[in-house]
Amino acid sequence: MRILLFTGKGGVGKSTVASGTAALAAAAGHRTLVLSTDAAHSLADAFGTPVGPEPTLVADNLFVQQVDAQLRFEQSWAEIQGYLLSVLDTTGMDPVAAEELTVIPGAEEVLALLELRLHALSDDWDLVVVDCAPTAETLRLLALPEALGWYMQRVFPVQQRVVKALRPVLSRAAGVPMPGGGVFEAVERLHAELDEVRALLTGPDSSVRIVLTPEAVVLAEARRAYTTLSLFGYRVDGVVANRVFPAEDADDWRAGWVLAQDEVLAQVEESFTGVPLWRSVYQPAEPVGVEALADLARDLYAGLDPVATSRVPGPFEVVSVRSGVELRLRLPFVTRDQVDLARSGDELVVTVGSHRRLLTLPAGLARLRVAGAKVDDDGVLRVSFKDESAERVG
Ligand SMILES: Nc1ncnc2c1ncn2[C@@H]1O[C@H](COP(=O)(O)OP(=O)(O)O)[C@@H](O)[C@H]1O
Ligand SMILES: [Mg+2]
Repeated sequence: MRILLFTGKGGVGKSTVASGTAALAAAAGHRTLVLSTDAAHSLADAFGTPVGPEPTLVADNLFVQQVDAQLRFEQSWAEIQGYLLSVLDTTGMDPVAAEELTVIPGAEEVLALLELRLHALSDDWDLVVVDCAPTAETLRLLALPEALGWYMQRVFPVQQRVVKALRPVLSRAAGVPMPGGGVFEAVERLHAELDEVRALLTGPDSSVRIVLTPEAVVLAEARRAYTTLSLFGYRVDGVVANRVFPAEDADDWRAGWVLAQDEVLAQVEESFTGVPLWRSVYQPAEPVGVEALADLARDLYAGLDPVATSRVPGPFEVVSVRSGVELRLRLPFVTRDQVDLARSGDELVVTVGSHRRLLTLPAGLARLRVAGAKVDDDGVLRVSFKDESAERVG
């Protein structure tokens, strides 16, 4: 199952381009689902038809789904939240404030992506198009299971054992409710499911397309998203420049815009070298409905298959080099002084600005020693690993 994610700043045309891509793929015979995790019901607007929380047929081969993020949140988080609320209750906290404390910003969105896991298991689809929330925030949050992995593997089992042993004593003594087994199970299940979704989205059949409009502020945000997406292992295989003013027969006002946009478009090309750039013209009316959306996508991809597996490499690579093994992470636009690197057991902690990723090392690398690291001019972080046992022998 191919997965295409569309992200970008609010209002640039994510839902339109995502829906158009899906409509075009469906017309080519792919069993296609387009889903949105956005509470704004933007897919209903794009298709000009009501869309339910379950896949709704809108054309041959084409289904649309508006995931009920709130519902998914309640299903996955209810038990854990219930426990947290009971703990906060013993502190005498106002229940409304406590309720707020137990809600993680962005969590609804992330949990809505659990839907993808079910679709992948179902075998119903050739293609799932995801209309993501603005910027890369959701996808960044998906790295949470990776970050929680350390905790889950080491601290969690110990805690679970301790809690089991001490539950009767502690709850009598302190009056703090101890988490029941159900809470631990719920956390473990949620962790595993999110990890599956993350693996799916960073896997070879998934890629992200960044939608932008040719404006300086929008480009700046798209560049940041590109860095963040790469840091967290997502493959960006296309950039869509939407709402490009046509140059033909332009009056003075439009000619001014054409010039201004050309300048930004040149910067877009420079920023995303090696990634295909597709353009979509500013239409005289809102592209609404299956036909209009498919037409927009047909112009956009200009004969290219929008579903074809990407030839753009993912940001993460492990390569054998003469001195041992090298781990490479492409971090577009990042300079050496912006990257911080630390090793902690099987994990490599990569920090770029305010974003941090706990990268679990592949088994082959985990037993090796880090011999050096650098960021070269084209923004590739290279970490070299050496085999110490081989060194001793040699
Ligand atoms: N190429 C285009 N030409 C004209 N209108 C467009 C184009 N792309 C999108 N729009 C319109 O712009 C508005 C915002 O698009 P939308 O896809 O909802 O953005 P997003 O999902 O990024 O918030 C919608 O009214 C949509 O119909
Ligand atoms: Mg939208």
